[in-house]
Amino acid sequence: MPKIIPPPGVSDIFPEEITAWYELEAAARKVFPLYGFGEIRPPIFEFTEVFQRGLGGETEVVQKEMYTFEDRGGRSLTLRPEGTAGVMRALAGTDAANGVEHRVFYMGPMFRGERPAAGRKRQFHQTGVENVGHEANPGLDAECIAMLCHFLQEAGITGYNLLLNTRGVQSDRPASEKVLAEHFRAHLDEMCDDCKERINRNIWRILDCKQECCRKIIETAPDPAEFFSQESKDYFAKVCDLLAKQNIPFTVDRRLVRGLDYYVHTVFELTHSGLGGQSAIAGGGRYELTLPGLKKPLPGVGFAAGMERLLIVREALGVKAPEARHPQLFLASLGEKALAFNSELAAKLRKQGISAALEYEAKSMKSQMRSADRLKADYVLVIGDSELEQGRANLKCMADGNETAVSFDELATVLAK
Ligand code: HAM
Repeated sequence: MPKIIPPPGVSDIFPEEITAWYELEAAARKVFPLYGFGEIRPPIFEFTEVFQRGLGGETEVVQKEMYTFEDRGGRSLTLRPEGTAGVMRALAGTDAANGVEHRVFYMGPMFRGERPAAGRKRQFHQTGVENVGHEANPGLDAECIAMLCHFLQEAGITGYNLLLNTRGVQSDRPASEKVLAEHFRAHLDEMCDDCKERINRNIWRILDCKQECCRKIIETAPDPAEFFSQESKDYFAKVCDLLAKQNIPFTVDRRLVRGLDYYVHTVFELTHSGLGGQSAIAGGGRYELTLPGLKKPLPGVGFAAGMERLLIVREALGVKAPEARHPQLFLASLGEKALAFNSELAAKLRKQGISAALEYEAKSMKSQMRSADRLKADYVLVIGDSELEQGRANLKCMADGNETAVSFDELATVLAK
């Protein structure tokens, strides 16, 4: 059959794959409410300004990866590339703007025009949380990371690394940017073209560069956090201390800056070797978001995990999801009368919670048994005139071929077992 393929970087999720998704979603819906988080479902697209202002105009996502279009009313709209900015836009209209804490989680599709690769898609799914409104507090940051680890444990994911760093606050930046600029300017000739640009536009992004020629220079760069205020250093030390007390292992990675501009203080990323090329399964941190119409930036802390990437890791770890649901019972019909009876019986059984299937046109027994096989039915009941007369038939177990005589009245009870 010719395969009609979707656009690059997007894919279908078929019924055979969906049970693994259900398990991840169930893990999120179980764990996040334990920390007081309720589900929010913001829209898939927003005014472009929400992401431009929220994520920062200099970020790679805003500059190169957004799906932006004009609607019929001439408004510029963008498919959400991440969840945080939309959630903040939704909560900015509540008392969160006056310092009241809101705890929300979300899951769903996000869109980024990145070069597709294994684990890197243009439509991908995240599940994430945001704790919004409460002023910065190391306890909340540590709790957020603990919640992510708890979620992964519930989802069957082990063997990841937690990388942790601090971005300080806005007033910490000039001093550290100065020493970074001095270091990088001395090596400008050896650096990649992108980094030559970054030095003026967003120097922090250089720390993130994966190019071989830049890596060496980044390794010898001064640690920007050394130039932060004592208050910011103490904040980070407290987060580290709280994680250690909860036995959550982590590595401080002074090069971790994260790709979005809204972060302050704590940033973190979870990596897993089971992923291959794209190693980040989740990331997050504390942030302050500037949004249109808000007098002051809204504080929050949160994370998002990439669902496709979690599924790749689960598979590498050998975690099996239950098989997709198939019919418990296939009703085979010998003759028109039996067919009419079977279609009523199927309708009745389904209302009693038993999944049932049948062919709605007269077909040979061989062809009906082929259908039962294709559908992977657990049991088959063959009904003809004599079964109709007796009110009972043989229930055949497809796994071992055993047959048991069952009356039509007790069918639902027998199958429910
Ligand atoms: P992010 O690091 O951009 O953070 O994305 C979070 C996770 O989404 C990544 O670690 C990765 O697993 C997954 N992901 C990102 N891009 C792709 C892609 N193209 N294909 C497949 N998976 C992808 C954020 O989005 C922030 N909003 C997280 C956050 C919430 N920070 C604070 N609150």
